[in-house]
Amino acid sequence: MKKSVLFLFAFLLMAPFKSKADEGMWFLMFINKNIKDMQKMGLKLTAEEIYSINNSSLKDAIVQFNGGCTAEIISKDGLVLTNHHCGYDKIAELSTPENDYLTHGFWAKTKKDELAPKSNSVRFFIRMDNVTDRILALFDDSFNEKERERRINQEIAKIQEENDEGGKYTVSVRSFFQGNEYYYFVYQDFDDVRLVGTPPDMIGRFGGDTDNWEWPRHTGDFSLFRVYTDKDGNPAKYSPDNIPMKPKHHLPVSLGGVKEGDFAMILGYPGRTNRWMPAGGIDQNVKFAYPAWVEGSKVAMDAMKAHMDKNQKVRLDYASSYARIANYWKNRQGMIEALTLHKTAETKAQTEKEFEKWANKPVNKKLYGNVVADINEYYAKTNENASHNNYLINMLRSSNYASALNRLGAQMLNYINSNEPKRRELQPALNEDINDLYENLYEPLERDVLIAQLNLYSKKGGENIAPYVAELKQKYNEDFTEYVDNALKNSIFTSKESIDRFFENPKAELITNDELFKLSNELMMRYRAKTNEEILLDENFSRNFRLLVRGLRESGLNNIQYPDANSTLRLTYGSVVTLPAHPTRKNDAKANYYTTLKGAIDKHNPNDDEFNNPQKLIDLYNKKDYGRYANEHKELPVNFLTNNDITGGNSGSPVLNGKGELIGLAFDGNIEAMAGDVIFDDKLQRTINVDIRYVLFIIDKYADAKHLIDEMTIVK
Ligand code: ARG
Repeated sequence: MKKSVLFLFAFLLMAPFKSKADEGMWFLMFINKNIKDMQKMGLKLTAEEIYSINNSSLKDAIVQFNGGCTAEIISKDGLVLTNHHCGYDKIAELSTPENDYLTHGFWAKTKKDELAPKSNSVRFFIRMDNVTDRILALFDDSFNEKERERRINQEIAKIQEENDEGGKYTVSVRSFFQGNEYYYFVYQDFDDVRLVGTPPDMIGRFGGDTDNWEWPRHTGDFSLFRVYTDKDGNPAKYSPDNIPMKPKHHLPVSLGGVKEGDFAMILGYPGRTNRWMPAGGIDQNVKFAYPAWVEGSKVAMDAMKAHMDKNQKVRLDYASSYARIANYWKNRQGMIEALTLHKTAETKAQTEKEFEKWANKPVNKKLYGNVVADINEYYAKTNENASHNNYLINMLRSSNYASALNRLGAQMLNYINSNEPKRRELQPALNEDINDLYENLYEPLERDVLIAQLNLYSKKGGENIAPYVAELKQKYNEDFTEYVDNALKNSIFTSKESIDRFFENPKAELITNDELFKLSNELMMRYRAKTNEEILLDENFSRNFRLLVRGLRESGLNNIQYPDANSTLRLTYGSVVTLPAHPTRKNDAKANYYTTLKGAIDKHNPNDDEFNNPQKLIDLYNKKDYGRYANEHKELPVNFLTNNDITGGNSGSPVLNGKGELIGLAFDGNIEAMAGDVIFDDKLQRTINVDIRYVLFIIDKYADAKHLIDEMTIVK
């Protein structure tokens, strides 16, 4: 403890720049409010050059990638850059044991060689506007939650219709500050997005789950795609006749590199933060929700890994889902540690105490007097269920049988109970769903995951477990092995073949009596079930949370000026910054704000599939063949740190210098700052970025794909 304080102190003394720590995920329409501050820090652009409704601006090069990540356009032919881990499931989908792009990488030689996944999309941001007054005028504080929601939804439908230009655009109206403000966002979606290039796993995911969320880091976490349009430039489903998009703006790529203190900004789609979360919520997560999540994820990972290690096809088929589970398994552990260490709940509780004083002044009492007490009561009453829910959720997100069969079975029942014309209508969707589920499903793995999850859930889910699981637990003496094996033996749902056999002589009873189907239904029912008391609790909570945020802003007790992340486009700005040296994790570079290829080679281990550098990369390192991508110390930079305020969903976001040129690609956060989604810690919170020079080096020297470099606008 003492030691780390010393470390920090030394770091502060040595830091040559007064680096402003940069909390804030800002709306582009209000960027005028930040622009002076940004310009002081090194921005050379105007607000209009970042966000303009009428002229092309920076925002036109930023897209949401497949709903979950961020990406950017980097050529006049619609070349898209995002993280490797964002393209991961598409790369895995396009890979087979014979053509294993995940393992060996892929580089399209010409546009014709670019590969279209089954589905893949990018979303462009057109504009946004404030509709707070319009929405809040629909009701007052006396309205109950149901009526409030009903009126809001009605108005949202109108706003969508007014702005979607007859279906050309997608319009999304979202609430901010817990329902105290409303904005709408206009988007245009493109659905033909093809894979252009990806480094091998051992570059794109170098360090694997061991290095995930850690610094120092040596990961080439990038992949390349391309947006295609119809011949008139409009969005279109995949067609061989589609042409590369002509974007309104593409980002110039800088060879200038980064230095400590340099201005750096990031535009992207941060998924979720909870900076207003009450103390009780933090406590609930740390003590009930996250521990259950961690345990539930680990059980799934162990069962999956045992099979993935034995079989290359299984490894490919489950790679993406395993990575997703492992990512948040580690994240949640980091959150438990960081929130405990920083006593975040205590800090919040202190603010809430002050809030109570303010709330009990005569003018405030009627509206705010009970807010904190009610919120605390809500958490006290829902703690146990939060734990249960997290076990159940992890069973559902790791077991395909548990999560998918209820829906598939219902679809099949509907199909066989229909007449011929109706069946013909239902057939395509049904076939597609069957294929999607079974194409990459491996029964032995699914068996083990389901047994492990049922054992854990029934043991730890407490009083709240699904009644049917409670029954089975009794009957099978708390071990679900025999139960699952029997269910599988007799089920029509184990594989594509068993489903095909079913359709040779389809009978409804075969579905309704199927044990796996029944189990899936019971679990889903429990997942969705809410007692009247729970519904009431939830409604009261959302009202009280909204009032808490409103009161905190009104009283000035909380001064956060930007809304929580909710997958809408934001800008965060700050600078290139070091991190206090880690006691055991040594960095190879001259300063602790960047890493170099040497570090990756130092970590090389041919027997460890997380640290096994490709031979060609080692050869390039030995020859020091870095071309124009080396830094002034003749090192090849790999990753660097900034103090930007990002979270999951920002993955793949461009890091831009003061001129709006691409200097890197955000791809991770650091484990020390996992409390960041709840509270921003300026001393610890960092964004981990791939240096764009490393991206270019891999494309140019490693992959010999110079034609892709030629497509970009490279600036010195
Ligand atoms: N931590 C990264 C994020 O949440 C994902 C990294 C994926 N890599 C991995 N080794 N699992 O954006």
